[in-house]
This record gives sequence, C-alpha cells and structure tokens, in this order.
Amino acid sequence: MSENKSAQQQIDLSKPLAEKMVRVTFLPEGKTVEFEFGTMPYDNHGKPMSFLDVAENFDVFLDHACGGVCACTTCHLWIKEGEKGISEPEDEELDRMETASSIQLNSRLGCQAVITKPGTYVVEIPKWNRNYVSEGKPLTLAENK
Ligand code: FES
Repeated sequence: MSENKSAQQQIDLSKPLAEKMVRVTFLPEGKTVEFEFGTMPYDNHGKPMSFLDVAENFDVFLDHACGGVCACTTCHLWIKEGEKGISEPEDEELDRMETASSIQLNSRLGCQAVITKPGTYVVEIPKWNRNYVSEGKPLTLAENK
C-alpha cells in the first residue's frame, strides 16, 4: 500500500493550485486529490501517472478488469478538463476504444491516459461499465445507470 492510500486529503478548492502540484477530480463522485508532480509512487496498475494509477493511489474506484494493460474498456473515462496536459493516445488505445460504449471525443482509457505535467484535471467515470475482455464475449459488470 502506498503512503497516499491511507491519507485522507482535505482539498480547499477555493485556493489556486500551487506550482508543481497536480489536482485531479473524479466525477461523478466528486472526489478531488492533490499531489506534487513526480512524487506519486507507482501502484502497478496501468501506465505510471495514468488516471488509473492516480485512482489506485487514492482509493478512487475505477474499474480495470484487465489490470491496466489496454485489453478491456472498463477504465473508460471522459476528460472534462486538462486535456492539454495528458499524453496523446497510442494506436493500441485507439483500437481498444473502438469497442467502448458511449465513446465521445473526450474519451480515454484511464490506464493509458497519462498526466504529463502539473495542473488541474477533471475526469468523469461513466456510471455504467461494460467489460469487453479481449478473449471475446462481453461481460456486463453493471447495468446501465
Ligand atoms: S483497465 Fe483494461 S483497458 Fe484500462
């Protein structure tokens, strides 16, 4: 367990973000976490500094049926703010996203979208989640809504 996991942060959203800091808000839960860029330990899920990595470090539930290796779409999320600070999707992610439900222009896989610089980020995790595991048949993890 990382040291961040047990920490309950009290974030004052009225204060401007300090230099070198990363602030991530996960919707619809509305949970906001902050940490200094480059200091978060890798949690072994998804790419280092991906939204899945952040979620795992701070106990935010973001499904990741394949473990964060770009083989499902359960970590699908929508980028609401901060897209300029996020890595460009690679072909593997783009191919996988074609199997995702309710894809939008701001859709990314949480395990592949990496925060590349300090700043404010807001992502929304769809309420539904369908798991299209690479072996084949879709496995519904939760009913819509
Ligand atoms: S967790 Fe499976 S693609 Fe991200």
